[in-house]
Amino acid sequence: MSDASVPVATTPDATRALCDAARARGQRVGFVPTMGALHAGHLALVEDAKRRSGFVVVSIFVNKTQFGPTEDFDRYPRDLDGDLRTLAPAGVDLVFAPDGATMYADDDETRVLVRGLSEPLEGLHRPGHFEGVTTVVAKLFHSVGPCVAIFGRKDYQQLLVVRRMVRDLLWPIDVVGYATMRERDGLAMSSRNAYLSPDERVRALAIVRGLDAASRVFAAGERSAPAIERAAREPLERASASIDYVAARDADSLAPITTPLGARALLAVACRIGSTRLIDNTVLGEEPPPLG
Ligand code: PAF
Repeated sequence: MSDASVPVATTPDATRALCDAARARGQRVGFVPTMGALHAGHLALVEDAKRRSGFVVVSIFVNKTQFGPTEDFDRYPRDLDGDLRTLAPAGVDLVFAPDGATMYADDDETRVLVRGLSEPLEGLHRPGHFEGVTTVVAKLFHSVGPCVAIFGRKDYQQLLVVRRMVRDLLWPIDVVGYATMRERDGLAMSSRNAYLSPDERVRALAIVRGLDAASRVFAAGERSAPAIERAAREPLERASASIDYVAARDADSLAPITTPLGARALLAVACRIGSTRLIDNTVLGEEPPPLG
């Protein structure tokens, strides 16, 4: 345990013992998994966990297995002391901050894979990403034990994949999705926003304008997936973003939509602004346009 004002556990056993003790006192455990570099979006997840539980755990672990070989694992921002200072006033009961060797033995050979939901969208553009996510989230869930776990809806596909893993493996964990937190100008909060130059930060707003345009044409009655995708794509093209996908999908199965959209559909975007890859989404028919 560290002597920082938020207790820190570095092993699954210590984490499990403290969570078991909380459950023995009759407290529900709330869990917010993170890779650190915490921002107001993470604090909103912590607040939600506090509303839903009596003992809140935040994990901080930059998980190598979910990064591709050419991705930003090495430069991903790491500042445990800063994160602990951010969490101290938030009333977090425990931080679980293991090191790489604790989470992955040298001869580690086990992976957890959710087929189907992991395959489209991010799965196509980041091969192996979700296998890394589900493997580490499985380890984190086993460290924390039965809990309510809060995931941001910015990573919408991740939320669905984790929920499916929990359902299929019969784990006593309630997976909750929390609304995407946005900056005042609408940009979705993300640790990767720190990579953007001032000019790129301005250009990144094309993502929000695209989602907003799609929401508005949907609200005006447009139900053709290609027409809605075109509305979202146009501002991105004008901002010279390099687009991985702009996709209207079934909000539960992530399947492509070939018939007119129903009352609710996911619109998901992934693109590069400069060298920074950003993702965002909105659920048409469920969420207000991102620009209000
Ligand atoms: O969303 C994230 O920050 C990560 O994918 C997670 C869930 C903490 C797993 O490493």
